[in-house]
Amino acid sequence: MVGTEDAYTAEPFVPRRGGLPALRRAAADCRGCPLHREATQTVFGAGEATARLMLVGEQPGDQEDRQGEPFVGPAGRLLDRALAEAGLDPADTYVTNAVKHFKFTRAEPGKRRIHKSPTLRETTACGPWLAAELARVEPELIVVLGATAGKALLGSSFRVTQVRGTVLEEEIHGRPERLVPTVHPSSVLRAEDRDGAFRGLVSDLRVAAQALG
Ligand code: URA
Ligand code: SF4
Repeated sequence: MVGTEDAYTAEPFVPRRGGLPALRRAAADCRGCPLHREATQTVFGAGEATARLMLVGEQPGDQEDRQGEPFVGPAGRLLDRALAEAGLDPADTYVTNAVKHFKFTRAEPGKRRIHKSPTLRETTACGPWLAAELARVEPELIVVLGATAGKALLGSSFRVTQVRGTVLEEEIHGRPERLVPTVHPSSVLRAEDRDGAFRGLVSDLRVAAQALG
């Protein structure tokens, strides 16, 4: 079915058995949607299967695409600072994205790669990887970073401004989950009032820290 119109899905590439290492190996060869064609490599989630907290972002950025690890660029550094301020232990988190390949455009050939948001079709195609990560990690809490992750997990009516900093209880891929939505760290980097936006992110993450107990 892959390559057939309206049939973008990672499903046939996702192994039924095995732990996170088996998932990561299989995801390296995913051809479930066209995003693998231009990207350097699959950027799978990172962290231990025993992590109590799962953080879900949008998609890898330029640095992540080159290094093969999620949240290692500017947004990741900001996120690390916010987690530390909120008292969340990075060693106890599993970090991943709604979409596992970098999507970008260039203003001109050979020029800098500019992030482009994934479509609903692409996040839906990549969903089976996120479902498989959730089934392996079984986190106690999910932090939803921004609108793309929110729509991927909670549906297209998700509005981050309406639910940020609250604890939601929803069924996700057939499992009851607790989630705390917040803004995407990249939006803090773009904000006019960066300090205020950063404090908002930290305050939402404190809600997550409290919910974890
Ligand atoms: N932004 C994301 O959503 N994820 C990353 O891994 C990096 C930047
Ligand atoms: Fe597969 Fe997701 Fe990459 Fe598309 S973005 S090719 S579904 S891993």
